[in-house]
Amino acid sequence: MRSVTLRCDACGFEAAPLAEEPRPFTCSRAAKDGADHVLAPALGSALPTWPSSADSQPFLRFAPLLFVHQAALELGLGEDGYREAVLTLDAAIERVDGRGLRVTPASIAPSLEALTGAETWVKDETNNVSGSHKARHLFGVGLYLALVRAAGLEAQRPRLAIASCGNAALAAAVVARAGELPLDTFVPPDAAPAVVSRLRDLGALVHTCERAAGELGDPCVRAFRDAVAAGAIPFGCQGPDNGITLDGGRTLAFEVVELARQAGQLERVFVQVGGGALASSLARGLEDARRIGVIDRLPRLHPVQTERVAPLLAAYEKVLAGLGEAALPPPGDERSDLLRARPLRERVEAQLALGAGRRAHLLEPWPRPQPSVAHGILDDDTYDGLAILRAAFASGGAPVAVAEPTLALAAAALNDAGIAADETGAAGLAGLVTWAREHGPLTNQRALVLATGHRR
Ligand SMILES: Cc1ncc(COP(=O)(O)O)c(C=O)c1O
Ligand SMILES: [Zn+2]
Repeated sequence: MRSVTLRCDACGFEAAPLAEEPRPFTCSRAAKDGADHVLAPALGSALPTWPSSADSQPFLRFAPLLFVHQAALELGLGEDGYREAVLTLDAAIERVDGRGLRVTPASIAPSLEALTGAETWVKDETNNVSGSHKARHLFGVGLYLALVRAAGLEAQRPRLAIASCGNAALAAAVVARAGELPLDTFVPPDAAPAVVSRLRDLGALVHTCERAAGELGDPCVRAFRDAVAAGAIPFGCQGPDNGITLDGGRTLAFEVVELARQAGQLERVFVQVGGGALASSLARGLEDARRIGVIDRLPRLHPVQTERVAPLLAAYEKVLAGLGEAALPPPGDERSDLLRARPLRERVEAQLALGAGRRAHLLEPWPRPQPSVAHGILDDDTYDGLAILRAAFASGGAPVAVAEPTLALAAAALNDAGIAADETGAAGLAGLVTWAREHGPLTNQRALVLATGHRR
C-alpha cells in the first residue's frame, strides 16, 4: 500500500508497481474516449503524518507527502537513496543556475492592503530556481527520472520534451542540464529572443512551431505530444501529459499550509491560471493537508485568468448553465456558498462528473487567443482545468477575469513592494484587486497571492 500514489481523476486507475511500469506518466486508459484522464498524486488510505522537518529543501522537508519519496522506497532505494538523489540533483541545479530549490519567503505587504482591504500576504517565487515556481514541478519529474535510473530501470538517458514559451521551458532546461539529459523544447515563433538564447545556452534544442491560420489548440503542444508518442519523456508542466509534474507543485501548497498555521486562517487565495498545473497542484496539496487534519478549512480558491484568454471561466459558466433553472444570486461569496451546499452541490458535482467523462463538455481550447501583458498565462486550453473547477466550487471560491490595466497595476504594486514580478507573476494580485473592486474591500480578511515569475 502506497501512502502517496498516482491515481486517475477521471477513472480511478492507479499506477502499477513501478518495477513493472517505470513510466507512470499518464493514465493507461487515456485512449481516445474523450475523458479527462489525469494520473495525479493522491494520498492512499493510510494517510501520511504531516512532517515536522526543518530542512529548507522542499523535497526533503515534505518528503512523506510526496509521490517521488514513495517511489524511492518502492524502488528499494530507501530513505538514504532518496535523500542522496534530492541532494545530488539540487547541487547540480545550483551549479547550473546559481541556486537550489528552497522554501520561498512569504510576507505581508502593507502597501497592498490599501488596494484590497485585506491583510495581503505574498508568497514570493520570483527568486526560485530559474526565476519562477516552475522548477518545483520539474524538480519532481527530474528527481523521479534519477530514481528510476538509480534503480536500474532506465538504462539509457532518455530525451525529454516540453512545449512552452517561457518560464516552464527555462526551468525544464535548467533541470535537464543538471540531470545531464537532452531536452527538446517546442516554442512559438514569438518566444522572447532572450529566452530562446538562454535555452540554447543551457543545451536545449529549440523547435519553432508555426500556428496555421484558424488552427484550434496550441501547435507547440501538438508537436510536443508527437515527440512523446515517439518515445520522449513528457518533461513539462501539464498534468494530463505527466501527472508527476503535479507532485512537486504540491510543495508550494505545503509551504502555504505552514504559513497558514503561523499567520492564521487564510480566507482566500488568488492564483494565476495558464495551463492550470500551478492551481491544480496548489488545490491538491491544500486538500491533502485538510485530509491529514493540519488545516480545518480550505481558503476560497480564486483562479485568475486574463479577459483575453479565459477558457476556465468559460468552463465555470458552462457548469452554472448546466444547473438548469436554479435562480442564483449575483457572483460573490453568497452565490459560491450556495453552490457548495446541498442541494446545489450535487448538481454542480454532476456537471463536473460529466466533464470528467467527456472533457469537451466543459473544457475546450479558447477560440480566439489574443495577446496580453500576462503572456505566461495565455494557454489556449486549461489542461488541468477540471481539478481547479472542483476545488474552486468546493472551497467557495470563484474564478476572476482581469483586465490589462489591472495587471499592470498589480505588477507595479508588487515591484514597489520590492518583489520583481512581471504581469504574469502578478496576475493573482490583479485578481484580488479586481475581486475587492467588484465586491467591496476585504476588511478583516487574510488573503494570499503568489508572485510566481520574475520580470525578465
Ligand atoms: C510566472 C508564471 N506564473 C503562473 C503561470 C501559470 O501556471 P500554469 O500554466 O501551471 O497555470 C505561469 C505559466 O507559464 C508562469 O510562467
Ligand atoms: Zn483514467
